[in-house]
Amino acid sequence: MNILVIGSGGREHVIAQKFVQSPLVETVYCAKGNPGMKQDDIHLVAIEEDNHPELIQFAKEHHVDWTFVGPEVPLLNGIVDDFEAAGLKIFGPRKSAAMIEGSKDFAKTLMNKYSIPTARHQTFFDFKQAKEYVQQKGAPIVIKADGLAAGKGVIVAESVEQAIEALEDMLEGNRFGESGAKVVVEDFLAGEEFSLLAFVREQEVYPMTVAQDHKRAYDNDLGPNTGGMGAYSPVPQIPKEMIDEAVRTVLIPAAKGMVKDGCSFTGILYAGLIATDEGPKVIEFNARFGDPETQVVLQRLESDLAEIITDLLDEKQPSIKWKEGGFSLGVVVAADGYPGEYQKGVSLPAFSSSDETRVYYAGVEEIDNKLVSSGGRIYLVEAEGTTLEDAQKKVYDLLETKETTGTFYRNDIGSKALK
Ligand code: AMP
Ligand code: GLY
Repeated sequence: MNILVIGSGGREHVIAQKFVQSPLVETVYCAKGNPGMKQDDIHLVAIEEDNHPELIQFAKEHHVDWTFVGPEVPLLNGIVDDFEAAGLKIFGPRKSAAMIEGSKDFAKTLMNKYSIPTARHQTFFDFKQAKEYVQQKGAPIVIKADGLAAGKGVIVAESVEQAIEALEDMLEGNRFGESGAKVVVEDFLAGEEFSLLAFVREQEVYPMTVAQDHKRAYDNDLGPNTGGMGAYSPVPQIPKEMIDEAVRTVLIPAAKGMVKDGCSFTGILYAGLIATDEGPKVIEFNARFGDPETQVVLQRLESDLAEIITDLLDEKQPSIKWKEGGFSLGVVVAADGYPGEYQKGVSLPAFSSSDETRVYYAGVEEIDNKLVSSGGRIYLVEAEGTTLEDAQKKVYDLLETKETTGTFYRNDIGSKALK
């Protein structure tokens, strides 16, 4: 069969690579993809993610059996609705269900209605009211722009002054445009973070192995929030009971609640959780695979990803097996300055593929047959190991041998689990 993947980052690179490896699959297309994917036999399609009519035409002309959507923006633009209306198979939530990621207020309302554990919150449009609420509550407190902000619309304020500054920025300064015109203020949750993803088909929930992302830009969780600087899977310090509880109290009620509310979810549901003393609590939902979590989680999948998605689309029971021992760990290499302003066109070292390590590309372009950087997060190096130390060592040993001028990476991905 032929598969089309929508997206262009490291997440889409690993998803498409898994499809390429399936004996069921002939050709994997990726729109628009990136030139780093070509080494893995992924065919790039020069159509923009938001050009649904051309993507639909391409899928028809190239006998694409089904399409897989990586990022949130096309989902919220209704790409699934449009493909379905054209009679094409596509895996991902419709626009009405993708709102679980597209609006924090939508997600909070769902959680309150179905008693899904999350931080207490209040939504504000008005700066003065929000300011009074924060003064009453005290710090630490968390301020979130309501809409999409690529992981950067969240301020964990250590002081009331910092919280008020963030509110002023979003509600009066229009810093996040539309997505900050509405702000969610929520209680600070203390505990370790983990990402729990699942394949979901309406009421049915098939959880994946958990991962931990590293959202802050610099070592020891310092610096600004980013899209994610590295991840590993599984997460040994999160006990199985905590994960089982999260499936029971978060994923299942969310899937069932959305069916009840007439916006049933089929696709990848991602819960960002904090393991608090009172059990797992949600800090965010995403309507898609996480980046960089996917680059490590999918290494742990023993079953054929293309077969799982085919079965889900065909209303069959999927067979999903995860590896028993070992770990996968991935480190993101980003452009100096990211997540602020950064330079483009940095030349990148060559990597030869090996059994031990893999490279997934994101913000890259090709100039004179050479890959150079074009984005903030440029590539991720991933390795598996029998222990987490082993996986971590393989990644950092490889990175140390490479020329990384103009770029940076965190040196402590996975270290929290090793303390
Ligand atoms: P989000 O984009 O909602 O995942 O938030 C970005 C980051 O801010 C998260 O990964 C957490 O580290 C932090 N964060 C968000 N909400 C909370 C909260 N209620 N309590 C503590 N930390 C939070
Ligand atoms: N790594 C977090 C995300 O994909 O939203």
